[in-house]
Amino acid sequence: MYASAEELVFDIAELASFELFSPVVDETVWFFRDLLGMIETARSGDSVYLRGFEDPYGHSLKITHRDTPGMGHAGWRANSVPALHRRVEAIERSGLGRGWVEGEVGMGPAYEFTTPDGAVQRIGFEVAYYEPPAEQRSVVLNRVQRRPLNGVPIRRLDHLNLLSRDVTENRRFFAEQLGFKLSEHILFSDDTEGGAWLRAMTRSHDIALVKDGVGGGGRLHHVAFLYGNTQHLMDACDVLTDNGLEIEAAMASHAISQAQFVYVLEPGGNRIELVGSAGYQVTDPSWQPVVWAQDAIDDAIIWYGSELPAEFDTYGTPVVGPTNYRTPNRYAATEAGMILGGRASV
Ligand SMILES: [Fe+2]
Repeated sequence: MYASAEELVFDIAELASFELFSPVVDETVWFFRDLLGMIETARSGDSVYLRGFEDPYGHSLKITHRDTPGMGHAGWRANSVPALHRRVEAIERSGLGRGWVEGEVGMGPAYEFTTPDGAVQRIGFEVAYYEPPAEQRSVVLNRVQRRPLNGVPIRRLDHLNLLSRDVTENRRFFAEQLGFKLSEHILFSDDTEGGAWLRAMTRSHDIALVKDGVGGGGRLHHVAFLYGNTQHLMDACDVLTDNGLEIEAAMASHAISQAQFVYVLEPGGNRIELVGSAGYQVTDPSWQPVVWAQDAIDDAIIWYGSELPAEFDTYGTPVVGPTNYRTPNRYAATEAGMILGGRASV
């Protein structure tokens, strides 16, 4: 049997940058720089810019001060200038475009828009590549710079996961306006989607959309950074716990995507995923989306050291409703009922 031929167009290359809001920027920078080995490359206004040692651009993470945690924007890089303009036209037709943004550190013009849930995204092509100082060049010539010696250094930004009011509506937006391909999804018994994992190119997913268990969607479930070697997850857990952070779930392996993972809340309250092995690649042009029916969801994690807590499905940033999660800083309880304060303040 032969699969039907459909011309595949890949206009988006990757998640190139991500802006994280934190009420405690210094502590959040400490988390990413001192514990996860990211390199600070710039400061501007209320923002600090960092990158992993294999991130090719000037920054992959922008941390900006806000009173409540959450996502600032996700920055996608198009595969070419024509691809960028094709996608901008499609976004404008959807009515969710906001217009061009210029002046971002290390980035050329980018077009800003929102998902149907209101999560802010940008798409651009021009970027400034990172040039390491001579003493930081690696003998591994395909590596952007030498592996840092502090913390347990992540290699690079990997993917994001958004809580969605309506997974199907948001999944269609990413597929139709941006050209993402569906790799896997969860279908509940009433035929509604519980989650969708979409890829820009060949990685199993660059964005995941999961049903928001309590809120109206558009919140950050997590942003993920890649180790590539699962062995680093154990070292990371040791360093994180030794420095007062509580691991939400570790170590375990997703069946969906096959990535091995650790989840931890950074000091600002945002959930961060650390990915060991990167999971599978989709190189089959006729790939058919994998369907996880409701009765198969228990197998969606195939082995684990600790089960996912109940709040895994409801906690996101900004926080909605009460939470028992704690972070190791003095971020006081919010109107939303966030119970933070953790070990350092009790
Ligand atoms: Fe993830």
